[in-house]
Amino acid sequence: MKTETTIQGLTASLSPARSSRKIIGFVPTMGNLHEGHLNLVREARRLCDVVVVSIFVNPIQFGPNEDFENYPRTLEHDSHLLAEVGCDIVFAPSVEQMYGHKPRLTNISVSDITNDLCGLQRPGHFDGVAVVVTKLFNMVQPNFAFFGQKDYQQLAVIRQFVRDLNIPLEVIGVPITRATDGLALSSRNGYLTEEQRKTAPIIFQSLKEAEQQLKQAVNLAEVLENIKQTLTQAGFIVDYVEARTLDLDKIEVFNQDVVLFVAAKLGTTRLIDNLQVKYTA
Ligand code: PAJ
Repeated sequence: MKTETTIQGLTASLSPARSSRKIIGFVPTMGNLHEGHLNLVREARRLCDVVVVSIFVNPIQFGPNEDFENYPRTLEHDSHLLAEVGCDIVFAPSVEQMYGHKPRLTNISVSDITNDLCGLQRPGHFDGVAVVVTKLFNMVQPNFAFFGQKDYQQLAVIRQFVRDLNIPLEVIGVPITRATDGLALSSRNGYLTEEQRKTAPIIFQSLKEAEQQLKQAVNLAEVLENIKQTLTQAGFIVDYVEARTLDLDKIEVFNQDVVLFVAAKLGTTRLIDNLQVKYTA
């Protein structure tokens, strides 16, 4: 496995694969890797000849009061994990390498779907994601790019600008990897105290209960309210509990497949999760 920290080095490392028309798979990450990330890499390994993983904590997707400075940076450990799952090239550029020294005057803004859910609480966040992912796509020029359904809205935003801008690659969504107690794996879980870590799986439990209630024809608004109450009683500060269609349109009545979304804080740690619920008439 090679590690590249410059765009030039990355291009040189990818050159043989490009000239022999190998299928290039790409997994963008911010590092501090866990099984959720590694499952994306395994999926890339399964479908592609060459697997590139980027590790870059992207300053422009963090808000002023968010955890950019404290975000865990564990490149050495991440590299060991990536070597074990068969990654070929790790791309870990510096902020200077990514953004240069001249100001960036171009933005990529996906309307509508970013003015909802996490986009409301985190203004500018998805623009920052769209910019860095586009830059990374242009640097790596992959055939396939892999993203987790854990960040369902992010996946939708990426699918949208890839389609709108004719970016020549295929986006693959990969299901959520969970701990045995149901908690969706996340680098931010590491911020939780022991006590909070024991409480955190209630998010997934409340989503599973909601699924049962929907199947027993409980009204959608009531089901969402029940999740909110369960979480509040357990000590979460709820940011939102919402239902959307698979395309992220608003939905009032459970008459098609829905995705249930939760964002809630335990102390200062913000956790997100979602669950797709199939509709059967
Ligand atoms: P990061 O949070 O490191 O996540 C990298 C990828 O791993 C994303 O596609 C995310 O959805 C996926 N992922 C994280 N936890 C997962 C889990 N439990 N199950 C399945 N997939 C999971 O998302 C980002 O980084 C950044 O916004 C990035 C796209 C790299 C742009 O900076």
